Amino acid sequence: MSKHKRRLILAGLAITSIGLSITEPDLIFPTSQEAPARQAAQEANPAPWWKHAVIYEIYPRSFQDTNGDGIGDLQGISERLGYLQDLGVNAIWLSPIYPSPQVDFGYDISKYEAIDPMYGTMADFDNLLAEAQKHDIRVLMDMVLNHTSDQHPWFIESRSSRDNPKRDWYIWRDGKGPGISPNNWQSLFGHSAWQYDPSTQQWYYHKFYPQQPDLNWRNPEVRKAMYDVCRFWLDKGVGGFRLDAIETLFEDTRLRDEKILPGRNAYGDPNEDESRTVDLPEIHEVMRELRQVADSYPGDRVLVGETYTRTTHDLLSMYGLDGPELQLPMDTQVGFIDNKLDAGAFRQRISAAENDLDGHVPLFLFDNHDNPRSWDRYGDGMHNEAIAKILATVLLTTRSAALMYYGEEIGMVTTPPKTRAEVQDPIGKIGWPKEKGRDGERTPMQWDGSKDAGFSTTDHTWLPVAPNYPTINVQVESRNPGSLLTWYKALIALRRSHPALHLGSNIMVNATDPNMLSYLRKNPGNGPSVLVAMNFTAHLRIVSYDLKAQGIEGATGKALAQNGGVAKAVELSHVALPPFAVLVAEVQ
Ligand code: NOJ
Ligand code: CA
Repeated sequence: MSKHKRRLILAGLAITSIGLSITEPDLIFPTSQEAPARQAAQEANPAPWWKHAVIYEIYPRSFQDTNGDGIGDLQGISERLGYLQDLGVNAIWLSPIYPSPQVDFGYDISKYEAIDPMYGTMADFDNLLAEAQKHDIRVLMDMVLNHTSDQHPWFIESRSSRDNPKRDWYIWRDGKGPGISPNNWQSLFGHSAWQYDPSTQQWYYHKFYPQQPDLNWRNPEVRKAMYDVCRFWLDKGVGGFRLDAIETLFEDTRLRDEKILPGRNAYGDPNEDESRTVDLPEIHEVMRELRQVADSYPGDRVLVGETYTRTTHDLLSMYGLDGPELQLPMDTQVGFIDNKLDAGAFRQRISAAENDLDGHVPLFLFDNHDNPRSWDRYGDGMHNEAIAKILATVLLTTRSAALMYYGEEIGMVTTPPKTRAEVQDPIGKIGWPKEKGRDGERTPMQWDGSKDAGFSTTDHTWLPVAPNYPTINVQVESRNPGSLLTWYKALIALRRSHPALHLGSNIMVNATDPNMLSYLRKNPGNGPSVLVAMNFTAHLRIVSYDLKAQGIEGATGKALAQNGGVAKAVELSHVALPPFAVLVAEVQ
Protein backbone atom coordinates (compact mmCIF):
# COMPACT_ATOMS: atom_id res chain seq x y z
CA MET A 1 0.00 0.00 0.00
CA SER A 2 1.31 3.38 -0.85
CA LYS A 3 0.18 5.39 2.17
CA HIS A 4 2.69 4.47 4.83
CA LYS A 5 0.37 5.00 7.75
CA ARG A 6 -2.36 2.85 6.30
CA ARG A 7 -0.48 -0.39 6.72
CA LEU A 8 2.72 -0.97 8.55
CA ILE A 9 4.98 -3.70 7.48
CA LEU A 10 6.51 -5.90 10.12
CA ALA A 11 10.21 -5.28 9.81
CA GLY A 12 11.63 -8.10 11.89
CA LEU A 13 12.05 -8.27 15.63
CA ALA A 14 14.67 -6.23 17.41
CA ILE A 15 16.27 -7.85 20.42
CA THR A 16 17.55 -5.31 22.91
CA SER A 17 19.94 -5.73 25.78
CA ILE A 18 19.03 -7.95 28.69
CA GLY A 19 18.22 -6.18 31.92
CA LEU A 20 16.68 -7.52 35.10
CA SER A 21 14.28 -10.32 34.39
CA ILE A 22 10.59 -10.04 35.13
CA THR A 23 9.81 -11.35 38.59
CA GLU A 24 6.97 -13.60 39.66
CA PRO A 25 3.44 -12.77 38.50
CA ASP A 26 2.26 -9.64 40.26
CA LEU A 27 -0.89 -9.24 42.18
CA ILE A 28 -3.64 -7.03 41.04
CA PHE A 29 -5.71 -5.49 43.76
CA PRO A 30 -9.40 -5.12 43.19
CA THR A 31 -10.64 -1.66 44.04
CA SER A 32 -12.60 -1.43 47.22
CA GLN A 33 -16.36 -1.12 46.93
CA GLU A 34 -16.36 -1.35 43.16
CA ALA A 35 -20.12 -1.30 42.67
CA PRO A 36 -20.84 1.88 44.70
CA ALA A 37 -17.85 3.62 43.14
CA ARG A 38 -19.07 2.75 39.67
CA GLN A 39 -22.55 3.96 40.47
CA ALA A 40 -21.16 7.22 41.86
CA ALA A 41 -19.03 7.66 38.75
CA GLN A 42 -22.05 7.16 36.53
CA GLU A 43 -24.23 9.51 38.50
CA ALA A 44 -21.59 12.19 38.48
CA ASN A 45 -21.15 11.75 34.78
CA PRO A 46 -24.10 11.54 32.45
CA ALA A 47 -21.77 11.49 29.43
CA PRO A 48 -22.72 9.19 26.57
CA TRP A 49 -21.46 5.64 26.84
CA TRP A 50 -18.96 5.88 24.01
CA LYS A 51 -16.87 8.52 25.78
CA HIS A 52 -15.45 5.84 28.07
CA ALA A 53 -16.04 2.84 25.89
CA VAL A 54 -13.90 -0.18 25.32
CA ILE A 55 -14.78 -1.31 21.81
CA TYR A 56 -13.68 -4.79 20.77
CA GLU A 57 -13.21 -5.56 17.11
CA ILE A 58 -14.29 -9.02 16.04
CA TYR A 59 -13.13 -10.40 12.72
CA PRO A 60 -16.08 -12.79 12.37
CA ARG A 61 -14.31 -15.30 10.12
CA SER A 62 -11.79 -15.91 12.88
CA PHE A 63 -13.66 -15.67 16.17
CA GLN A 64 -15.71 -18.81 16.71
CA ASP A 65 -16.92 -21.44 14.25
CA THR A 66 -20.00 -23.41 15.30
CA ASN A 67 -20.88 -25.35 12.15
CA GLY A 68 -17.49 -26.92 11.50
CA ASP A 69 -16.74 -25.27 8.16
CA GLY A 70 -13.58 -23.63 9.48
CA ILE A 71 -15.03 -20.12 9.25
CA GLY A 72 -16.39 -18.21 12.24
CA ASP A 73 -20.08 -17.34 12.40
CA LEU A 74 -22.69 -15.25 14.21
CA GLN A 75 -23.79 -18.10 16.41
CA GLY A 76 -20.19 -18.37 17.53
CA ILE A 77 -20.10 -14.72 18.52
CA SER A 78 -23.35 -15.13 20.48
CA GLU A 79 -21.83 -18.06 22.35
CA ARG A 80 -18.84 -15.98 23.39
CA LEU A 81 -20.76 -12.99 24.75
CA GLY A 82 -20.23 -14.20 28.30
CA TYR A 83 -16.48 -14.03 27.77
CA LEU A 84 -16.76 -10.51 26.34
CA GLN A 85 -18.92 -9.30 29.19
CA ASP A 86 -16.51 -10.78 31.68
CA LEU A 87 -13.66 -9.03 29.90
CA GLY A 88 -15.64 -5.83 30.36
CA VAL A 89 -16.10 -4.49 26.83
CA ASN A 90 -18.94 -2.07 26.09
CA ALA A 91 -19.32 -2.73 22.39
CA ILE A 92 -18.25 -5.09 19.66
CA TRP A 93 -17.52 -3.96 16.13
CA LEU A 94 -18.10 -6.68 13.58
CA SER A 95 -16.03 -6.60 10.42
CA PRO A 96 -18.45 -7.01 7.49
CA ILE A 97 -20.94 -9.88 7.64
CA TYR A 98 -23.00 -8.90 4.60
CA PRO A 99 -23.31 -11.05 1.47
CA SER A 100 -20.07 -10.77 -0.41
CA PRO A 101 -17.96 -12.62 -2.96
CA GLN A 102 -15.27 -12.35 -0.23
CA VAL A 103 -12.55 -11.02 -2.52
CA ASP A 104 -11.64 -8.63 0.30
CA PHE A 105 -13.19 -10.89 2.95
CA GLY A 106 -16.43 -8.96 3.22
CA TYR A 107 -15.24 -5.45 2.38
CA ASP A 108 -16.70 -6.10 -1.08
CA ILE A 109 -20.42 -6.05 -0.35
CA SER A 110 -22.98 -7.36 -2.83
CA LYS A 111 -26.04 -6.71 -0.64
CA TYR A 112 -26.15 -4.28 2.27
CA GLU A 113 -29.33 -5.31 4.02
CA ALA A 114 -28.69 -9.01 4.52
CA ILE A 115 -26.31 -11.49 6.14
CA ASP A 116 -23.91 -13.69 4.19
CA PRO A 117 -25.06 -17.33 4.63
CA MET A 118 -21.45 -18.14 5.51
CA TYR A 119 -22.03 -16.30 8.80
CA GLY A 120 -25.65 -17.32 9.38
CA THR A 121 -29.06 -15.77 8.87
CA MET A 122 -30.78 -12.52 9.73
CA ALA A 123 -32.46 -14.44 12.56
CA ASP A 124 -28.98 -15.28 13.90
CA PHE A 125 -28.11 -11.60 13.70
CA ASP A 126 -31.29 -10.55 15.53
CA ASN A 127 -30.53 -13.14 18.16
CA LEU A 128 -26.97 -11.83 18.53
CA LEU A 129 -28.28 -8.30 18.95
CA ALA A 130 -30.79 -9.35 21.60
CA GLU A 131 -28.28 -11.48 23.47
CA ALA A 132 -25.65 -8.76 23.32
CA GLN A 133 -28.11 -6.34 24.86
CA LYS A 134 -28.65 -8.78 27.72
CA HIS A 135 -24.89 -8.77 28.23
CA ASP A 136 -24.80 -4.96 28.20
CA ILE A 137 -22.82 -4.96 24.96
CA ARG A 138 -23.63 -2.81 21.93
CA VAL A 139 -23.10 -4.08 18.41
CA LEU A 140 -21.45 -1.81 15.84
CA MET A 141 -21.61 -2.67 12.15
CA ASP A 142 -18.81 -2.08 9.69
CA MET A 143 -20.24 0.23 7.03
CA VAL A 144 -18.42 0.25 3.72
CA LEU A 145 -19.51 3.42 1.94
CA ASN A 146 -16.69 4.06 -0.50
CA HIS A 147 -17.26 1.07 -2.75
CA THR A 148 -19.42 -1.97 -3.35
CA SER A 149 -18.60 -5.36 -4.80
CA ASP A 150 -18.54 -5.53 -8.59
CA GLN A 151 -21.27 -8.16 -8.04
CA HIS A 152 -23.62 -5.67 -6.39
CA PRO A 153 -26.75 -5.20 -8.56
CA TRP A 154 -26.02 -1.46 -8.66
CA PHE A 155 -22.68 -2.05 -10.35
CA ILE A 156 -24.00 -4.79 -12.62
CA GLU A 157 -26.56 -2.28 -13.87
CA SER A 158 -24.04 0.54 -13.99
CA ARG A 159 -21.63 -1.37 -16.21
CA SER A 160 -24.41 -2.67 -18.50
CA SER A 161 -24.48 0.44 -20.72
CA ARG A 162 -23.35 4.04 -20.82
CA ASP A 163 -26.92 5.29 -20.52
CA ASN A 164 -28.08 3.02 -17.72
CA PRO A 165 -29.70 5.11 -14.94
CA LYS A 166 -27.09 3.73 -12.51
CA ARG A 167 -24.13 4.57 -14.77
CA ASP A 168 -23.36 7.68 -12.73
CA TRP A 169 -23.50 5.77 -9.43
CA TYR A 170 -19.87 4.80 -10.05
CA ILE A 171 -16.90 6.66 -11.50
CA TRP A 172 -16.63 5.96 -15.21
CA ARG A 173 -14.23 7.90 -17.40
CA ASP A 174 -12.69 7.78 -20.86
CA GLY A 175 -9.07 6.77 -21.15
CA LYS A 176 -6.40 9.07 -22.51
CA GLY A 177 -6.11 6.90 -25.59
CA PRO A 178 -6.33 3.22 -26.52
CA GLY A 179 -5.18 1.17 -23.51
CA ILE A 180 -4.22 4.32 -21.56
CA SER A 181 -5.98 4.92 -18.24
CA PRO A 182 -7.52 8.34 -17.41
CA ASN A 183 -4.63 9.32 -15.09
CA ASN A 184 -1.88 8.02 -12.80
CA TRP A 185 -3.99 7.19 -9.75
CA GLN A 186 -3.03 3.96 -8.05
CA SER A 187 -5.00 1.48 -6.05
CA LEU A 188 -4.01 1.17 -2.42
CA PHE A 189 -3.83 -2.55 -3.18
CA GLY A 190 -1.33 -2.18 -6.00
CA HIS A 191 -1.10 -0.89 -9.57
CA SER A 192 -3.57 1.30 -11.49
CA ALA A 193 -6.81 2.35 -9.79
CA TRP A 194 -8.56 2.21 -13.18
CA GLN A 195 -10.08 -0.87 -14.73
CA TYR A 196 -11.04 -0.97 -18.40
CA ASP A 197 -14.48 -2.32 -19.28
CA PRO A 198 -14.39 -3.47 -22.92
CA SER A 199 -18.14 -3.68 -23.37
CA THR A 200 -18.74 0.06 -22.81
CA GLN A 201 -15.15 1.11 -23.59
CA GLN A 202 -14.67 3.18 -20.46
CA TRP A 203 -12.63 2.82 -17.29
CA TYR A 204 -13.98 2.64 -13.74
CA TYR A 205 -12.15 3.80 -10.65
CA HIS A 206 -11.35 1.53 -7.69
CA LYS A 207 -9.29 2.74 -4.75
CA PHE A 208 -9.02 -0.88 -3.56
CA TYR A 209 -9.34 -4.13 -5.56
CA PRO A 210 -10.79 -4.00 -9.10
CA GLN A 211 -13.69 -6.01 -7.64
CA GLN A 212 -14.45 -3.00 -5.38
CA PRO A 213 -15.60 -0.19 -7.70
CA ASP A 214 -15.84 3.21 -5.98
CA LEU A 215 -19.29 4.74 -5.63
CA ASN A 216 -19.81 8.27 -6.89
CA TRP A 217 -20.62 10.22 -3.74
CA ARG A 218 -21.38 13.33 -5.80
CA ASN A 219 -24.55 11.61 -6.97
CA PRO A 220 -27.45 12.40 -4.56
CA GLU A 221 -29.12 9.06 -5.28
CA VAL A 222 -26.03 7.22 -4.02
CA ARG A 223 -26.06 9.26 -0.85
CA LYS A 224 -29.71 8.59 -0.23
CA ALA A 225 -29.33 4.86 -0.89
CA MET A 226 -26.45 4.56 1.55
CA TYR A 227 -28.17 6.60 4.26
CA ASP A 228 -31.16 4.27 3.85
CA VAL A 229 -28.83 1.32 4.40
CA CYS A 230 -27.61 2.94 7.62
CA ARG A 231 -31.21 3.46 8.73
CA PHE A 232 -32.00 -0.20 8.07
CA TRP A 233 -29.40 -1.27 10.65
CA LEU A 234 -30.14 1.55 13.07
CA ASP A 235 -33.81 0.53 12.98
CA LYS A 236 -32.70 -2.93 14.05
CA GLY A 237 -30.99 -1.43 17.06
CA VAL A 238 -27.28 -1.48 16.27
CA GLY A 239 -25.18 0.85 18.41
CA GLY A 240 -23.61 2.60 15.44
CA PHE A 241 -21.04 2.08 12.73
CA ARG A 242 -17.38 1.82 12.06
CA LEU A 243 -17.03 3.76 8.82
CA ASP A 244 -14.67 1.98 6.48
CA ALA A 245 -12.28 4.02 4.33
CA ILE A 246 -14.24 7.18 5.07
CA GLU A 247 -11.35 9.36 3.89
CA THR A 248 -11.57 8.03 0.34
CA LEU A 249 -15.18 8.91 -0.57
CA PHE A 250 -14.29 11.69 -3.02
CA GLU A 251 -11.79 12.18 -5.81
CA ASP A 252 -10.65 15.23 -7.72
CA THR A 253 -13.31 16.02 -10.35
CA ARG A 254 -10.65 17.26 -12.78
CA LEU A 255 -8.81 13.94 -12.50
CA ARG A 256 -5.48 15.69 -11.97
CA ASP A 257 -2.56 13.30 -11.55
CA GLU A 258 -1.28 12.48 -8.10
CA LYS A 259 2.10 13.94 -7.25
CA ILE A 260 4.86 11.34 -7.49
CA LEU A 261 7.01 10.94 -4.38
CA PRO A 262 10.49 9.40 -4.16
CA GLY A 263 10.77 5.62 -4.00
CA ARG A 264 8.52 2.70 -4.82
CA ASN A 265 5.98 0.81 -2.73
CA ALA A 266 5.82 -2.92 -1.96
CA TYR A 267 4.04 -3.52 -5.28
CA GLY A 268 6.84 -1.89 -7.22
CA ASP A 269 4.75 1.20 -8.13
CA PRO A 270 6.09 4.73 -7.63
CA ASN A 271 4.90 6.30 -4.37
CA GLU A 272 2.14 8.89 -4.73
CA ASP A 273 0.99 11.55 -2.28
CA GLU A 274 -2.77 10.72 -2.59
CA SER A 275 -3.90 14.33 -2.26
CA ARG A 276 -6.31 13.90 -5.24
CA THR A 277 -8.05 10.82 -3.81
CA VAL A 278 -7.87 10.97 -0.02
CA ASP A 279 -9.27 13.50 2.48
CA LEU A 280 -10.98 15.77 -0.01
CA PRO A 281 -12.96 18.49 1.85
CA GLU A 282 -16.26 17.06 0.56
CA ILE A 283 -16.00 14.11 2.96
CA HIS A 284 -16.96 16.42 5.83
CA GLU A 285 -20.39 17.19 4.43
CA VAL A 286 -21.10 13.46 4.18
CA MET A 287 -19.90 12.86 7.72
CA ARG A 288 -22.21 15.63 8.94
CA GLU A 289 -25.11 14.02 7.11
CA LEU A 290 -24.25 10.61 8.53
CA ARG A 291 -24.16 12.10 12.00
CA GLN A 292 -27.61 13.58 11.48
CA VAL A 293 -28.86 10.13 10.53
CA ALA A 294 -27.27 8.59 13.64
CA ASP A 295 -28.51 11.38 15.90
CA SER A 296 -32.07 10.95 14.67
CA TYR A 297 -32.14 7.74 16.73
CA PRO A 298 -32.27 7.53 20.52
CA GLY A 299 -29.54 5.87 22.55
CA ASP A 300 -26.35 7.66 21.53
CA ARG A 301 -25.53 5.80 18.34
CA VAL A 302 -21.87 6.23 17.59
CA LEU A 303 -19.81 6.79 14.46
CA VAL A 304 -16.29 5.40 14.62
CA GLY A 305 -14.07 6.40 11.72
CA GLU A 306 -11.33 4.56 9.93
CA THR A 307 -9.16 7.65 9.89
CA TYR A 308 -5.44 7.42 9.29
CA THR A 309 -4.93 11.15 9.62
CA ARG A 310 -1.45 12.56 9.30
CA THR A 311 -1.72 15.40 11.81
CA THR A 312 -3.65 16.18 14.97
CA HIS A 313 -5.36 19.02 13.13
CA ASP A 314 -6.58 16.62 10.44
CA LEU A 315 -7.83 14.35 13.18
CA LEU A 316 -9.62 17.26 14.87
CA SER A 317 -11.42 18.01 11.60
CA MET A 318 -12.98 14.53 11.69
CA TYR A 319 -14.93 15.45 14.82
CA GLY A 320 -16.42 18.29 12.78
CA LEU A 321 -15.36 21.92 12.51
CA ASP A 322 -18.67 23.09 10.98
CA GLY A 323 -21.09 20.91 12.91
CA PRO A 324 -20.81 17.45 14.45
CA GLU A 325 -19.23 14.67 12.39
CA LEU A 326 -17.69 11.55 13.96
CA GLN A 327 -17.72 10.99 17.71
CA LEU A 328 -14.74 8.62 17.54
CA PRO A 329 -12.34 8.96 14.61
CA MET A 330 -9.41 6.59 15.16
CA ASP A 331 -6.31 8.27 16.53
CA THR A 332 -3.47 6.32 14.96
CA GLN A 333 -0.79 8.71 16.12
CA VAL A 334 -0.16 6.80 19.35
CA GLY A 335 -0.43 3.18 18.27
CA PHE A 336 0.51 3.06 14.61
CA ILE A 337 3.11 5.61 13.65
CA ASP A 338 6.55 4.19 14.12
CA ASN A 339 6.07 1.12 16.33
CA LYS A 340 8.80 2.23 18.72
CA LEU A 341 8.46 2.00 22.46
CA ASP A 342 9.65 5.56 22.84
CA ALA A 343 8.43 7.26 26.01
CA GLY A 344 8.94 10.76 24.58
CA ALA A 345 6.95 10.00 21.44
CA PHE A 346 4.11 8.42 23.44
CA ARG A 347 4.05 11.42 25.79
CA GLN A 348 3.99 13.89 22.95
CA ARG A 349 1.18 12.10 21.09
CA ILE A 350 -0.98 11.44 24.16
CA SER A 351 -0.52 15.11 25.10
CA ALA A 352 -1.53 16.21 21.61
CA ALA A 353 -4.74 14.20 21.95
CA GLU A 354 -5.31 15.70 25.39
CA ASN A 355 -4.59 19.31 24.46
CA ASP A 356 -5.23 19.78 20.75
CA LEU A 357 -8.53 18.01 20.15
CA ASP A 358 -10.73 20.71 21.68
CA GLY A 359 -11.76 18.39 24.51
CA HIS A 360 -12.97 15.62 22.20
CA VAL A 361 -12.32 12.07 23.34
CA PRO A 362 -9.53 10.39 21.37
CA LEU A 363 -9.93 6.80 20.27
CA PHE A 364 -6.65 4.97 20.82
CA LEU A 365 -5.81 1.56 19.37
CA PHE A 366 -2.82 -0.65 18.82
CA ASP A 367 -4.29 -3.42 16.73
CA ASN A 368 -6.71 -4.13 13.93
CA HIS A 369 -7.22 -6.56 11.06
CA ASP A 370 -5.04 -4.57 8.65
CA ASN A 371 -1.74 -4.39 10.50
CA PRO A 372 0.70 -6.85 12.04
CA ARG A 373 -0.15 -7.38 15.69
CA SER A 374 1.29 -4.98 18.25
CA TRP A 375 2.88 -7.94 20.07
CA ASP A 376 5.38 -8.15 17.21
CA ARG A 377 5.50 -4.49 16.21
CA TYR A 378 6.44 -3.28 19.70
CA GLY A 379 7.92 -6.42 21.28
CA ASP A 380 11.70 -6.72 21.56
CA GLY A 381 11.72 -10.52 21.49
CA MET A 382 12.66 -10.75 25.19
CA HIS A 383 10.08 -8.74 27.10
CA ASN A 384 7.09 -8.96 24.80
CA GLU A 385 4.55 -9.76 27.47
CA ALA A 386 5.69 -6.92 29.72
CA ILE A 387 5.64 -4.58 26.72
CA ALA A 388 2.14 -5.77 25.79
CA LYS A 389 1.08 -4.87 29.33
CA ILE A 390 2.53 -1.39 28.83
CA LEU A 391 0.51 -0.95 25.64
CA ALA A 392 -2.62 -2.20 27.40
CA THR A 393 -1.98 0.31 30.17
CA VAL A 394 -1.69 3.19 27.72
CA LEU A 395 -4.85 2.02 25.96
CA LEU A 396 -6.91 1.62 29.10
CA THR A 397 -5.69 4.21 31.60
CA THR A 398 -5.36 7.34 29.47
CA ARG A 399 -8.33 9.63 28.93
CA SER A 400 -9.41 7.93 25.75
CA ALA A 401 -11.94 5.56 24.36
CA ALA A 402 -10.21 2.26 23.66
CA LEU A 403 -10.39 0.10 20.58
CA MET A 404 -9.04 -3.41 20.85
CA TYR A 405 -8.81 -6.31 18.44
CA TYR A 406 -9.70 -9.91 19.24
CA GLY A 407 -6.76 -11.85 20.62
CA GLU A 408 -4.84 -8.71 21.60
CA GLU A 409 -5.84 -9.44 25.20
CA ILE A 410 -4.09 -12.82 25.20
CA GLY A 411 -1.04 -11.70 23.24
CA MET A 412 -1.76 -13.35 19.91
CA VAL A 413 1.17 -13.08 17.53
CA THR A 414 1.33 -12.29 13.83
CA THR A 415 1.60 -15.53 11.86
CA PRO A 416 2.23 -14.60 8.23
CA PRO A 417 2.00 -17.21 5.47
CA LYS A 418 5.29 -18.93 4.67
CA THR A 419 4.74 -19.31 0.97
CA ARG A 420 2.83 -17.39 -1.66
CA ALA A 421 0.66 -20.45 -2.26
CA GLU A 422 -0.65 -20.26 1.31
CA VAL A 423 -1.74 -16.61 1.02
CA GLN A 424 -5.46 -15.84 1.30
CA ASP A 425 -5.44 -12.03 1.25
CA PRO A 426 -4.99 -10.98 -2.38
CA ILE A 427 -2.59 -8.14 -1.58
CA GLY A 428 -0.22 -10.82 -0.30
CA LYS A 429 -0.28 -12.43 -3.71
CA ILE A 430 0.10 -9.14 -5.57
CA GLY A 431 2.91 -7.90 -3.34
CA TRP A 432 4.72 -11.16 -2.48
CA PRO A 433 7.33 -11.36 -1.01
CA LYS A 434 7.59 -7.75 0.20
CA GLU A 435 3.92 -7.51 1.08
CA LYS A 436 2.67 -10.79 2.55
CA GLY A 437 -0.87 -9.55 3.07
CA ARG A 438 -2.94 -9.42 6.22
CA ASP A 439 -3.48 -13.12 6.94
CA GLY A 440 -0.93 -13.01 9.76
CA GLU A 441 -3.10 -10.81 11.97
CA ARG A 442 -6.33 -12.65 11.15
CA THR A 443 -5.60 -16.17 12.42
CA PRO A 444 -8.29 -17.94 14.50
CA MET A 445 -8.94 -16.86 18.08
CA GLN A 446 -7.17 -19.08 20.57
CA TRP A 447 -9.71 -20.19 23.15
CA ASP A 448 -8.08 -23.29 24.63
CA GLY A 449 -5.52 -26.03 24.05
CA SER A 450 -7.86 -28.42 22.22
CA LYS A 451 -7.93 -29.08 18.48
CA ASP A 452 -8.13 -25.87 16.45
CA ALA A 453 -7.64 -23.96 19.72
CA GLY A 454 -11.36 -24.35 20.41
CA PHE A 455 -12.12 -22.16 17.39
CA SER A 456 -13.45 -24.95 15.19
CA THR A 457 -13.57 -28.71 14.79
CA THR A 458 -12.48 -29.10 11.20
CA ASP A 459 -9.15 -30.19 9.78
CA HIS A 460 -9.09 -27.07 7.60
CA THR A 461 -9.67 -23.76 9.33
CA TRP A 462 -9.74 -20.92 6.77
CA LEU A 463 -6.39 -19.74 8.11
CA PRO A 464 -4.12 -21.97 10.18
CA VAL A 465 -4.26 -21.62 13.94
CA ALA A 466 -1.05 -20.04 15.27
CA PRO A 467 1.28 -22.79 16.58
CA ASN A 468 1.58 -21.25 20.06
CA TYR A 469 -2.08 -21.94 20.90
CA PRO A 470 -1.39 -24.68 23.51
CA THR A 471 0.09 -22.06 25.84
CA ILE A 472 -1.37 -18.81 24.56
CA ASN A 473 -5.11 -19.16 24.93
CA VAL A 474 -8.04 -17.84 26.94
CA GLN A 475 -8.40 -20.90 29.13
CA VAL A 476 -4.77 -21.02 30.24
CA GLU A 477 -4.54 -17.27 30.77
CA SER A 478 -7.81 -17.04 32.69
CA ARG A 479 -6.29 -19.27 35.35
CA ASN A 480 -3.07 -17.29 35.61
CA PRO A 481 -3.18 -14.16 37.80
CA GLY A 482 -0.06 -12.85 36.06
CA SER A 483 -1.29 -13.28 32.49
CA LEU A 484 -1.88 -10.60 29.90
CA LEU A 485 -5.57 -11.50 29.86
CA THR A 486 -5.82 -10.98 33.63
CA TRP A 487 -4.08 -7.64 33.18
CA TYR A 488 -6.57 -6.49 30.52
CA LYS A 489 -9.53 -7.57 32.64
CA ALA A 490 -8.22 -5.82 35.71
CA LEU A 491 -7.50 -2.56 33.90
CA ILE A 492 -10.87 -2.54 32.14
CA ALA A 493 -12.59 -3.08 35.49
CA LEU A 494 -10.47 -0.31 37.04
CA ARG A 495 -11.25 2.20 34.32
CA ARG A 496 -14.93 1.53 34.82
CA SER A 497 -14.89 1.73 38.57
CA HIS A 498 -12.28 4.26 39.60
CA PRO A 499 -13.59 7.84 39.31
CA ALA A 500 -10.13 9.23 38.52
CA LEU A 501 -9.60 6.80 35.65
CA HIS A 502 -13.14 7.25 34.49
CA LEU A 503 -13.43 11.00 34.67
CA GLY A 504 -10.08 12.50 35.58
CA SER A 505 -7.99 14.77 33.38
CA ASN A 506 -4.71 13.39 32.09
CA ILE A 507 -1.63 15.31 33.22
CA MET A 508 1.87 14.31 32.19
CA VAL A 509 4.34 14.24 35.09
CA ASN A 510 8.15 13.96 35.09
CA ALA A 511 7.65 15.02 31.52
CA THR A 512 11.30 15.28 30.54
CA ASP A 513 12.19 11.70 31.47
CA PRO A 514 13.18 9.93 28.25
CA ASN A 515 12.86 6.47 29.83
CA MET A 516 9.56 6.60 31.64
CA LEU A 517 6.02 7.51 30.73
CA SER A 518 4.21 8.85 33.77
CA TYR A 519 0.89 10.60 34.04
CA LEU A 520 -1.63 11.55 36.63
CA ARG A 521 -5.32 10.94 36.23
CA LYS A 522 -6.54 13.71 38.46
CA ASN A 523 -9.74 13.03 40.34
CA PRO A 524 -12.22 15.79 39.49
CA GLY A 525 -13.77 15.50 42.97
CA ASN A 526 -12.28 15.09 46.42
CA GLY A 527 -11.34 11.45 45.97
CA PRO A 528 -7.88 10.09 45.27
CA SER A 529 -6.09 10.59 41.99
CA VAL A 530 -4.23 7.85 40.15
CA LEU A 531 -0.59 7.89 39.09
CA VAL A 532 0.40 5.70 36.16
CA ALA A 533 4.13 5.00 35.76
CA MET A 534 5.74 2.83 33.11
CA ASN A 535 9.36 1.95 32.59
CA PHE A 536 10.02 1.88 28.84
CA THR A 537 13.51 0.43 29.22
CA ALA A 538 15.21 -2.87 30.03
CA HIS A 539 16.92 -1.34 33.08
CA LEU A 540 15.86 -0.63 36.63
CA ARG A 541 14.75 2.99 37.09
CA ILE A 542 14.42 4.87 40.35
CA VAL A 543 12.05 7.78 40.01
CA SER A 544 10.87 10.56 42.28
CA TYR A 545 7.47 12.20 41.92
CA ASP A 546 6.44 15.50 43.41
CA LEU A 547 2.79 16.08 42.64
CA LYS A 548 2.33 19.29 44.65
CA ALA A 549 2.31 21.37 41.48
CA GLN A 550 -0.75 19.36 40.50
CA GLY A 551 -2.41 20.22 43.81
CA ILE A 552 -1.79 16.75 45.26
CA GLU A 553 -0.38 16.51 48.75
CA GLY A 554 -0.28 12.71 49.09
CA ALA A 555 3.22 11.23 49.15
CA THR A 556 2.50 7.53 48.94
CA GLY A 557 1.09 5.33 46.23
CA LYS A 558 -0.98 2.21 46.77
CA ALA A 559 -0.91 -0.12 43.80
CA LEU A 560 -4.24 -0.74 42.11
CA ALA A 561 -2.41 -2.76 39.48
CA GLN A 562 1.28 -3.46 39.07
CA ASN A 563 3.49 -5.55 36.87
CA GLY A 564 7.15 -6.36 36.76
CA GLY A 565 7.97 -6.49 40.46
CA VAL A 566 7.00 -3.03 41.68
CA ALA A 567 6.22 -2.78 45.40
CA LYS A 568 2.57 -2.69 46.40
CA ALA A 569 3.03 0.46 48.43
CA VAL A 570 5.56 3.07 47.38
CA GLU A 571 6.93 6.38 48.60
CA LEU A 572 6.50 8.70 45.66
CA SER A 573 9.87 10.25 46.34
CA HIS A 574 11.55 6.93 45.60
CA VAL A 575 9.76 4.58 43.23
CA ALA A 576 11.78 1.64 41.92
CA LEU A 577 10.57 0.33 38.59
CA PRO A 578 12.25 -2.81 37.21
CA PRO A 579 12.54 -3.26 33.41
CA PHE A 580 9.29 -2.59 31.58
CA ALA A 581 7.40 -2.46 34.87
CA VAL A 582 4.05 -0.75 35.29
CA LEU A 583 2.54 0.83 38.35
CA VAL A 584 -1.03 2.11 38.50
CA ALA A 585 -1.34 3.59 41.97
CA GLU A 586 -3.85 5.53 43.98
CA VAL A 587 -2.11 8.54 45.50
CA GLN A 588 -2.73 8.82 49.24
C1 NOJ B 1 -10.25 -0.79 5.23
C2 NOJ B 1 -10.49 -2.14 5.83
O1 NOJ B 1 -10.12 -2.11 7.17
C3 NOJ B 1 -9.68 -3.10 5.00
O2 NOJ B 1 -9.63 -4.37 5.59
C4 NOJ B 1 -10.27 -3.14 3.63
O3 NOJ B 1 -9.48 -3.98 2.81
C5 NOJ B 1 -10.32 -1.74 3.00
N1 NOJ B 1 -10.79 -0.74 3.92
C6 NOJ B 1 -11.23 -1.71 1.82
O4 NOJ B 1 -12.57 -1.77 2.23
CA1 CA C 1 -13.84 6.80 -3.37
